[in-house]
Amino acid sequence: MPDDRDEPAPAHPDVPPDAWAGVHRGPLRAGEWVRLTDQKGRRHNFELVPGKRFFSNRGHLDHDELIGREEGFTVSSSAGGEYLVFRPLLSEFVVSMPRGAAVVYPKDAAQIVAMADIFPGADVVEAGVGSGALTCSLLRAVGPLGTVTSYERRAEFADVARGNVTQFFAGHDDRTHPAWRLRLGDLAEELPASGARADRVILDMLAPWECLDAVGGALRAGGIVCAYVATTTQLSRFVESVRLHGGFTEPQAWESLVRDWHVEGLAVRPGHAMIGHTAFLVTARRMAPGERPPTKKRRPAPGAYGPDYQGPRPPGVPEEPAPE
Ligand SMILES: C[S@@+](CC[C@H](N)C(=O)[O-])C[C@H]1O[C@@H](n2cnc3c(N)ncnc32)[C@H](O)[C@@H]1O
Repeated sequence: MPDDRDEPAPAHPDVPPDAWAGVHRGPLRAGEWVRLTDQKGRRHNFELVPGKRFFSNRGHLDHDELIGREEGFTVSSSAGGEYLVFRPLLSEFVVSMPRGAAVVYPKDAAQIVAMADIFPGADVVEAGVGSGALTCSLLRAVGPLGTVTSYERRAEFADVARGNVTQFFAGHDDRTHPAWRLRLGDLAEELPASGARADRVILDMLAPWECLDAVGGALRAGGIVCAYVATTTQLSRFVESVRLHGGFTEPQAWESLVRDWHVEGLAVRPGHAMIGHTAFLVTARRMAPGERPPTKKRRPAPGAYGPDYQGPRPPGVPEEPAPE
C-alpha cells in the first residue's frame, strides 16, 4: 500500500469483526434492529427497545419477547399473526433506514463495489454522503485497513448518515466503522484543501462535473472515478466533462435493471415487480500525471456534436456550422 495518506491507515487489531462487518451474531440485543416479515411478505423494521411494543393489524408483540433469542425464528402476535424474525441484511437495512436524501439502491451499490473495483485496504472518497446507504457498502468493501472519507455539504444529511452508519456497524453500542471519516463541506473545495490521495472516488450528487478537477487532483494514477447520475442530461454532461478534462480514460456508461422471478411448480415466470431505472453509472480511470489517453480513431456519430449540441466539446471535435 502507498503511504501518502493524509492520516495513517487505521490499524485496529482490538476492534472486533462485527464493528467493521455490520454483522452481529448471537442473541438479539436491545438497541439492534430486527426485521419482521408477516405472512403476506410485508416487512417491518425497528430497533429493539426493552419494554416497548410493536403494533400491527394482527395485534401486538413485546420487544422483550424477541430480545435474547437467536435470530431466525417465527413469533406470534397477540391476535395470531405470524412473523419471521431476522436481523436485517445490509441490502435490507439501507432501504428501510431513516432517509435524508435519496439512497443508492442495493443493486447499484453492488455494481459500484464491483465495477469501481472497491478493494480491502482501498482509500475511497465519496460525496455526498446523503443518508449513508452507499457508505455502508463502501466501508464493508474496504474493511478495517482501508479508509472511506465521505463529504457532505448539508449538516442535516450528515447527521442522518452518521446515525445510520453507526447503527448498522455498531448495532448495540456507540462504535462506528474504524475506517470512516465524515467531513462536512463541498468535495470540490475540501478535497483539494485536504491534500488527501484516493484510489477510488464515487460521486452521487446533482453536478458531479463540478468536482472533476478536485477528483483528478486526488486520484492516484490508475484510480477510478465513478459517478451515479439519475438523468440523461447529467449523464451526457458528466461524460463530456471527463473527456474534456483529458486526464482520464474514455468513460464507460451503463445502467442495471434487475428482474425477480416467480418460481412455483409449473408457474415459472418473471415477477410482476421489477427494479427498473434508478440511475446511470459512469466510470473512468485516472491517467498518470501529464499523460493523455490515445486519440480516438472513430469519428463521433453524425450530428452528435451538431449545431444543437450545447454541452462540453471533447478536444479535437470542431464545431459544425449551422445549416444555411
Ligand atoms: C442523492 S444524495 C447521496 C445519497 C447517498 N449516496 C446514499 O446512498 O445515501 C446527494 C447528496 O450529495 C450532497 N452533495 C451535493 N453536491 C455535493 C458536493 N459538491 N460536495 C458534498 N456533498 C454534496 C447533497 O447535499 C446530498 O446530500
